[in-house]
Amino acid sequence: MTDLPTAPGAGPIDPAVEAALASSADARAEALLEFARIPSVSALPEHAEDMVRAAEWVAERLRRVGATDVAVERTALHPIVYGRIHEAPGAPTALVYCHYDVQPVDPVELWETAPWEPFLRDGQFVGRGVADDKGQLVMHLSALEALRAVGRAPAVNLTFVFEGEEEYGSESLYAWIEANRDRLEADVAIISDTCYFEGNVPAITVGLRGIMYAQIDVVLSPVDLHSGMYGGTVENPANALARIITALKGPDGRIRIPGVYDDVVALTDAEREAMAALPFDDEAYRAEIPVPALVGEAGWTTLERKTARPTLDVNGMWSGFQGDGAKTIIPAHAHAKVSTRLVADQDPATVFAALRDYVAEIAPPGVTVSTTYIHGGQPSLTPTDHPATQAAARAIQAVHGVEPVYIREGGSIPVTAAFDHSLGLPVVLLGFTQPTCNAHAPNETFLLENFELGTRVIVRFWDELATLPR
Ligand code: BES
Ligand code: ZN
Repeated sequence: MTDLPTAPGAGPIDPAVEAALASSADARAEALLEFARIPSVSALPEHAEDMVRAAEWVAERLRRVGATDVAVERTALHPIVYGRIHEAPGAPTALVYCHYDVQPVDPVELWETAPWEPFLRDGQFVGRGVADDKGQLVMHLSALEALRAVGRAPAVNLTFVFEGEEEYGSESLYAWIEANRDRLEADVAIISDTCYFEGNVPAITVGLRGIMYAQIDVVLSPVDLHSGMYGGTVENPANALARIITALKGPDGRIRIPGVYDDVVALTDAEREAMAALPFDDEAYRAEIPVPALVGEAGWTTLERKTARPTLDVNGMWSGFQGDGAKTIIPAHAHAKVSTRLVADQDPATVFAALRDYVAEIAPPGVTVSTTYIHGGQPSLTPTDHPATQAAARAIQAVHGVEPVYIREGGSIPVTAAFDHSLGLPVVLLGFTQPTCNAHAPNETFLLENFELGTRVIVRFWDELATLPR
């Protein structure tokens, strides 16, 4: 681990807090392991009780660090954990957001160790959720515990919102935010759910893609038909679906849904130059995945395509006979899950309407085709020169001894735009995992060094924020 200076006045954080963190290292690691043993998978109904357990776990930890108004708030689906530590009169207020839900673990046979038996070995945590996002949530709790251990309160007022539906589209969150505006008054939002740019290059994320997720259903008949008796006389829904899917995106990587690019804010020359200057190696990226070749929309670099251009992907498709051997049927129906990652200023509702209308227009006769909205989230863009972003940069510089890079990410955190658009808050995306952490995949990891350094960045960031004018 990087040596952290601890001499009074010389260190990146209050030396007493540093000492408290040093002496609590085992307990903090154990807290993450305990949290990660709760299988809080938001997408699977059989984990509904685990979701409540995880929410209660977080609430209990908040109470232990003296948070007030701690509540496990029921929603239509999974609870939101709320709490506040407002002990800095006159100082700015920060909303702190992380999510306690995780992705499913399948295919479980590809995990080298059991996903719900997380462990810390050779400098890394392994288990579902250790990086995305339980580790980062525990880091905020750890920073609070360390401050309390030395009798300090955070120098800023903190309001906590820990969500349980982030991995499932955050649908309950929007209404909850609207209904709770008065409890969410703040000057800035801090979201810890993003990555380093790579290995030892800390990053502040200033752009996230949004998403629009839909399902296309093609129905022929109530039951499968004999392909000898009916073949040649009826439309085949799987063939029809394949034609529809093919029409959505060309081999040049361009989405063909009319109007879909209308609201895309063009990258400026300066932004393209800044992206080109980042230490990104296409071949290393390809080999790390690994895939035979990188492909995508012509005219854009790999980094631009993965973070700042819209995409359209089939996430799943099913129809007809899937077993071994052969079965001579015309399937009764065919289905596809389709999503598009959005960039500023695309809007999920507008893009859904465009998809639905286009699919209806190209749907062949002889089958019934419908398109259903599943979930959506807005893209977001933050100016790099915002004082809160610069405060985060100073905290990173102090702890890591290097300047962070400013990056866009291809993933989505729907709450970001909600905080920005609904609450009018500047959002700082300050995250600490590695892009190679296997988020959403088997063998998810989180480096202990990032856990340790990031906790110190958080402590320092709160101190930096306290110096900003409200
Ligand atoms: N932590 C990720 C978002 C992320 C991904 C940030 C890559 C930085 C780099 C988050 O938990 C996530 O995966 N979000 C989902 C949201 C979706 C279900 C609406 C995503 O992007 O797929
Ligand atoms: Zn996440």
